[in-house]
Amino acid sequence: MKNILITGGAGFIGSHVVRRFVQNYPDYNIYNLDALTYAGNLENIKDIEDLPNYTFIKGDILDADFIDNLFDQHKFDGVLHLAAESHVDRSITDPLAFVKTNVIGTMNLLNAAKKLWNGNFENKLFYHISTDEVYGSLGESGLFTETTSYDPNSPYSASKAASDHFVRAYGETYGLPYVITNCSNNYGPNHFPEKLIPLFINNIIEKKPLPVYGDGNYTRDWLFVEDHAVAIDLVFHKGRNHETYNIGGFNEWKNIDLVKLLCTQMDSKLGRSAGESAKLITYVKDRPGHDLRYAIDASKINTELGWSPSVTFEQGLERTIDWYLSNEAWLKNVTSGNYQKYYEEQYKA
Ligand code: NAD
Ligand code: DAU
Repeated sequence: MKNILITGGAGFIGSHVVRRFVQNYPDYNIYNLDALTYAGNLENIKDIEDLPNYTFIKGDILDADFIDNLFDQHKFDGVLHLAAESHVDRSITDPLAFVKTNVIGTMNLLNAAKKLWNGNFENKLFYHISTDEVYGSLGESGLFTETTSYDPNSPYSASKAASDHFVRAYGETYGLPYVITNCSNNYGPNHFPEKLIPLFINNIIEKKPLPVYGDGNYTRDWLFVEDHAVAIDLVFHKGRNHETYNIGGFNEWKNIDLVKLLCTQMDSKLGRSAGESAKLITYVKDRPGHDLRYAIDASKINTELGWSPSVTFEQGLERTIDWYLSNEAWLKNVTSGNYQKYYEEQYKA
């Protein structure tokens, strides 16, 4: 039996990772630690909550004593660290919250792992899940590789970059076994509707304006979330110690083209006439420090571990839309209350 801690498992990507590990590894005890912030939702993992190898723990990675006690109590062999403040726009209005959770929270986990493992690192691993945004912005060409220099532009990406550096530093200084992955934009079921794709799906359903930042010519590399979970599983089990792996979708889209595709698919799903949802597109003021383009060179994980995305963008987007249309209660629940306040503040003219 292995005791595995997954942080942030009630969030978007974390819930898919928790499900995969709980279902595929009955010999592991999976502990899902999550503070249940606005982005965390136990409904995301309701289907596995009764499985015998799964335990949910509500707690904050900022509470160092609580984290130390947790490691002492459960003697974790492995940590998959996903808990984070994850939305760039929120990092622009409240950067300190990102330093706290993403940097200090990560430090608390590193310190607890170092203390528990105390130099006995055999079959131990600290896996830090990070983002391609740490590399900053690409121009019209080129790809992020594992050796691209860090050049973060938003408070979110700066906080993730800092946490990556601390993980590496604990590896070099104390010998802590670690892997880091830097992934591109995910999409799929359970994505909180503050991010582009789920926000626009929700607005199309409600016939609300679709707020495209700037001229819409920003490019992202999109990956279906379940393919990210497969990559995380592979890296956790087969990744080399003290290595970084980039994960991406080989799937670049300009925001405006993506939004038009989404509108077309939604019109067809909702039985609306062609072109109806595209009329909702509204260009709004740009995000400050907006990175022009992200694109990942995922050849290292592809050649070393045999990973590549299994889902095309059209298939993934259709599965995503279908999920939102058949989970109306989930969407209503997460878009009530504080969400309305956030939305008004973020999108006021
Ligand atoms: P998310 O915002 O959907 O979920 C974050 C989860 O962390 C939530 O369940 C939240 O309750 C929990 N959390 C937040 N603060 C916490 C704290 N102090 N203590 C304990 N739990 C806390 O995020 P996501 O999109 O699923 O991203 C997960 C990870 O993957 C993050 O580290 C993010 O940087 C990284 N990442 C995300 C993407 C993406 O496209 N979403 C891409 C690459 C990397
Ligand atoms: O690249 C990985 C990163 O992808 C993750 O680390 C982050 O956690 C995740 O949030 C995501 O960051 P982005 O900033 O790229 O994602 P977001 O969905 O916020 O925006 C995608 C693009 O769409 C970006 O160019 C900004 C634009 N956008 C976004 C919103 C919310 C709009 O034009 N309008 C919007 O309302």
